[in-house]
Amino acid sequence: MAKVGIFFGTDTGSTRKMAKLIQKQLGDEIADKPKNINRVDVEEFTSYECLILGTPTLGQGQLPGLSVDCQEESWEEFLPNFSDMDLTGKKVALYGLGDQVSYSNEFVDALGELYDYVANCGAEMVGFWPTEGYEFNASNAVDGDDFVGLVLDKDNQASLTEQRIAGWVEQISAEMNL
Ligand SMILES: Cc1cc2nc3c(=O)[nH]c(=O)nc-3n(C[C@H](O)[C@H](O)[C@H](O)COP(=O)(O)O)c2cc1C
Repeated sequence: MAKVGIFFGTDTGSTRKMAKLIQKQLGDEIADKPKNINRVDVEEFTSYECLILGTPTLGQGQLPGLSVDCQEESWEEFLPNFSDMDLTGKKVALYGLGDQVSYSNEFVDALGELYDYVANCGAEMVGFWPTEGYEFNASNAVDGDDFVGLVLDKDNQASLTEQRIAGWVEQISAEMNL
């Protein structure tokens, strides 16, 4: 089994696509193929030394799931599992997709929500990413001058996605000792 598990939620598939790009850069020996969070149980989730978790923000600043009209279950339905999960000793990096123009007041809010759940389980959080280069009014995913994970906006900044992923994968590889 590889050291890194990659799990994502999605509605229209973009977050899956980004998961595949991240996995490809890490390689099969380091990271297993990404899986949709609606096909994962707690045992598998907690079996990895390191985790990369991805989410879009949907509705008005919410995690994907049935209540925001996703076609399938997603992070929303997985959340109860975090209530008694122990992630002590694991390193976790997050990435989030959002739209800074149409949702400037709740930009990638779901990334911030996911961060709180995972950090509360005792994980060591890595992969913070500068807010420089993004324009938005408000976001729950900001901590000081950084986002709490990599932020990708394929709706407005698609041309920056590849280089952002490359830089971030390099960063978390060092932080996770991969
Ligand atoms: C109905 C709807 C609601 C959205 N709400 C937000 C939001 O509150 N904040 C945000 O940053 N992006 C929002 N977005 C943008 C999505 O996060 C973005 O398009 C993302 O790439 C979709 O990822 P997916 O294809 O994995 O579902 C919304 C998009 C849609 C269609």
